[in-house]
Amino acid sequence: MKTAFLIAAALFSTQVLAEDARQLAPLPPAAQEALREEMRGNLLALNEILTLMADGKVKEAGEVAEKSLGRGAMGKHMDKPFDARPGPNMPREMHRIGMDGHGDASEFAKAAASGDRDKALALLPKLTSSCIACHFSYRIR
Ligand code: HEC
Repeated sequence: MKTAFLIAAALFSTQVLAEDARQLAPLPPAAQEALREEMRGNLLALNEILTLMADGKVKEAGEVAEKSLGRGAMGKHMDKPFDARPGPNMPREMHRIGMDGHGDASEFAKAAASGDRDKALALLPKLTSSCIACHFSYRIR
């Protein structure tokens, strides 16, 4: 009896894990394409920032963060047709996570611009918190 219960519980938990509970955010194909391209750029920038930080090049890390992930990176889809702009096609809350992410990256960038390594290091996790928040809450397919 107890074994049967354990098996049932195990089956149930794998079922739960297999289910994708994230909210579907349907984006037009052109916006999906633009978003994925931007995302690959995000990952590249993140790697560059981590490498610069490890090398003690704190100010340079801040420059890359502001330009590639911070508020300085906002608006790069503005000149595209509406269907190719990811942000305004997202649910409002999803878009807000993205905007907050730009703000967080700028916060790190500001600390890094001062050259204060400890201060910049303390804010480093801010660079990835919005990635996690969005990826774990939303899917586009
Ligand atoms: C506002 C939501 C949001 C934020 C914030 C976000 N992402 Fe994404 N990301 C997505 C979505 C949606 C996809 C597409 C998933 C799919 O193709 O099914 C994606 C895809 C990706 C991909 C795959 C790209 C490809 O070629 O398919 C990478 C890499 C990625 N994100 C990295 C990041 C990193 C790094 C950050 C943080 C700096 C980040 N993302 C922040 C929503 C977000």
